[in-house]
Amino acid sequence: MLTKKTMKALNGQINAEIYSAYLYYSMSAYFESVSLPGFAHWMNMQAQEEMFHATKFVGYVNERGGRVILDAIDKPPFEWGSTLKVVEEVLKHEQKVTGLINGLVDLANKEHDHASGIFLQWFVLEQVEEEASVGAVLGKLKLINNDSSGMFTLDQEMGQRVFTPPTK
Ligand code: FEO
Repeated sequence: MLTKKTMKALNGQINAEIYSAYLYYSMSAYFESVSLPGFAHWMNMQAQEEMFHATKFVGYVNERGGRVILDAIDKPPFEWGSTLKVVEEVLKHEQKVTGLINGLVDLANKEHDHASGIFLQWFVLEQVEEEASVGAVLGKLKLINNDSSGMFTLDQEMGQRVFTPPTK
């Protein structure tokens, strides 16, 4: 059985994951509006991945006999001004999510909830991967430095991204 504190915190994370999806769908729409379909596709894949994360938390809370209580999702921004600004915000957002996941691990440890601690390890490693992957895109963008043929090539590359839900 989950403690009240852990259940509340896990419900908060479900909200944070769905907000991440909302934010990334909004970024996807922004990229469509500035004719970068590859980046739009990438953000769409990221949004799907966030919904996968939310679903994973929902399944876990249910499995532990907890109650999933959904809250309102905040309205995400919709205008950014440049591709670089969007990707910088993605990285900042992922770093914030990493902090939230680490906070959940700390709470699970404090509550002596070993099962939650183990469950959360998947997310700890997922965040390492997410931050690295967004960091790599940011690095490329900085190298390209707004060169239009470089942007065209990178946009095509971003359009190749796929999201395959992990089986474990
Ligand atoms: Fe669910 Fe991108 O962290």
